[in-house]
Order: sequence, then C-alpha cells, then structure tokens
Amino acid sequence: MISKDTIEKFREQPTPFYYYDLDVLRITCENLRKESEKYGYKVHYAVKANANPVILKIISSYGFGADCVSWNEIDRAINTGFKPSEIVFAGVGKSDREIESAIDANIFCFNCESIPEMEVIDAIAAKRNKTAVIALRINPYIDALTHKYITTGIEESKFGINIGDLDEVTAKLATLRNLRLIGIHFHVGSQITRMNVFSSLCSRINELQDWFEARNFKLDIINAGGGLGIDYDHPDTPVPFDDYSKLINDLITLRPGQTIHIEPGRALTGQCGSLISRVLYVKKGANKTFAIIDAGMTDLIRPALYQAYHKIENLTSSGALEHYDVVGPICESSDTFGKYIELPETSRGDLIAIRSAGAYGEAMASRYNLRDLPRSFFSDKLEP
Ligand code: LLP
Repeated sequence: MISKDTIEKFREQPTPFYYYDLDVLRITCENLRKESEKYGYKVHYAVKANANPVILKIISSYGFGADCVSWNEIDRAINTGFKPSEIVFAGVGKSDREIESAIDANIFCFNCESIPEMEVIDAIAAKRNKTAVIALRINPYIDALTHKYITTGIEESKFGINIGDLDEVTAKLATLRNLRLIGIHFHVGSQITRMNVFSSLCSRINELQDWFEARNFKLDIINAGGGLGIDYDHPDTPVPFDDYSKLINDLITLRPGQTIHIEPGRALTGQCGSLISRVLYVKKGANKTFAIIDAGMTDLIRPALYQAYHKIENLTSSGALEHYDVVGPICESSDTFGKYIELPETSRGDLIAIRSAGAYGEAMASRYNLRDLPRSFFSDKLEP
C-alpha cells in the first residue's frame, strides 16, 4: 500500500520515478533470513534483479552473498557491502577481462557453463599462480513453465552443461590444474509459480548427486539457483518463502558437509518497488480510451518484452470506474502497460502506480528515444 502521506509527497515530484518501500524490502529480507537460518541455506541475491546501491546496501546488511553476471555487478556488490568471499560469478559469456578482475578480487566461485570457459578461467588463474574455485552449471532439462524468454533449463537453452557431456567435462577438469570444483549449480528459469517445477529440479539434483558420488567427486555446494515467482495480482502480500524453503530442504538429499545455496532475485526485490508516473493525456480511440502516461517501456520493459502483468493503480482519483488502455509515450505499439484496465475516472495530471516493479524494472531501463533514465525515491527519505 502506498500511504496517503507518501502520495502527497509524490505530487511535488517530477515523474516518472521508481518508489521503493524499504520497509517491505526489510521485511522480505528478514523473512528469507529466518528461512535460510532454519534450514542452513546460503543465500546469494541475484543482483541483476535490482542493482540500485540503496537496495544492495540493505540486502547485504542481512548477511546474504551476491550472485553477479558481470564484473560491473561484482564491483557494485563489493562497493555496497557484499564480501568478495561471498560473491559468485555466473553467466554463459564471461569475458577475459571480467574473469581477470574477478580472480584479482578473490571472489568465491565461478559458475562455469562450458569446457572452453573452464579452459580460459584455468589459464587466467595459472598466470596469476592462483586456483579458481568453480561450480558446474548443469542444464537439468526441466521446463520452468514460465514465459519462454525466461526459461533457461530446457534442451534448447544456451545455459549450462548438458548432462550427456558430464563425462567429458569432468575428464577435462582433471587436467586443469588451476581449477577446483566445489559444487554443482542449476537455474531453470524465473517467475516460477508452480512448486512442482522445483520438485522436479530436486529429483534431478539427487540423480546428479549419485552420478558425482559414484565417480568419487566431493561436492560441498548444491546451488538450486533462483526463480521463485511473486504474486503480481497482490503487490501488498509479502512473498512467502516457507513452502519453497521446506520443499527444497525436504527433497534434496544432501551428503555430509554439503550446503544448499539459492539465488533469489525477484522474490527479494519485486514487491518493494513501484513505478510512479503521471497521466499526460486521456485520448479517445476508435473503440477504447487511452490513458497516456509519462512512463514508457524505457522505464519498465517487462510488459512489452514478456507480456507481463503489473497491477496499475490511479493514486489520485476516486471517480467512477472506467476502462483504459494504459500506454506510454514511446513510438512502439508494444509500449503498453495494460489493456482494458479498470481505473477510477482518469484525467491529465493523475498519478499512476505500476506495482511489483522492484525487480527487473529500473535494472532493465534504457535510454531509447534518448529518454532520461528513471530516478529513484525511497520511503526512508522522500528525495532523490
Ligand atoms: N540465478 C541465475 C543464474 C539467473 O540467471 C537468475 C535470473 C537468477 C538467479 C535470479 O532469478 P529470479 O529469482 O529473479 O527469478 N528480466 C526477466 C527475468 C530474467 C531472469 C534472468 N535470470 C523478467 O523481468 O522477468
């Protein structure tokens, strides 16, 4: 809920901007910390979901590690309180320079996705007389039952090592003297709302644990990735971590000394952020009414890219309900936040909130059309 006082403060501000309710973020972090302590998981927050320094400082203060996919993310994570020894570097295409910087920064682990990548990390580590710790990202062939663009663990995915190639990969590993295998890593997709997807992943993890054990590999870390979805219909409902945590704990059979790692992104930051915008014009179309707002797909691309649903609220009108297509100002028809949305009678100047936008909102903003990047405001201090 965005309070009346907060809405009053919005009135003075130029739009569009992201508004972050830091109490929501803190409650979410606290809930996840409790779950992780209960079951002994290690959490690495997926920085890609939201890399705003204010958000990162709060998340790092809960003792979580960071899951990064570029050197710039690693650098930002270190500068916002994450310990290098708790940073993992993932991604299918790490550049040589990024690998060099990450090794020099003494990060915890590289999640490796191919033999050529392992060879490059080994060579760079050797030059520095260091050993790089790695986990193998394995493609588990599990359909995440989510949007196809954020499905990452099926046969056609570019991510991870094929199960059928594990013999070759582990044989190669034995020849790479500057790598040390510490665990296995999986990530099947994002915005996963069906728990049976995670159950299937756990079964596959158990099969692979047997595979590695039979070949005398000792794995310390079983990384189940991220992906837990949020309820976009109910932006004010806290994300429940309990079912997910219990399921993973109950279904993954750990060997002595092993720890489960998870990498939530959206589940931590999604519900704390809203994109706040103003209505520029209300325009009659041939058979509908458009509410044209000053936020566009450059500020929040998820509806345009994934046909994603975000709840839209008019914060300043209490008129009779009517239907609007809520659209942005960009010259693309996909620049639409919602069609036939029921809102109180909407007029020029009204403030509009697009909710559940804390994850993959600001982080994916662009300067297309040379638009300014959206600013951010925080509930603790309503200033930019
Ligand atoms: N771990 C890995 C290896 C990942 O690739 C991702 C996300 C995560 C963890 C975190 O996933 P999460 O818990 O946030 O679902 N832009 C898209 C989502 C892309 C997710 C990419 N990978 C969206 O707006 O829906």
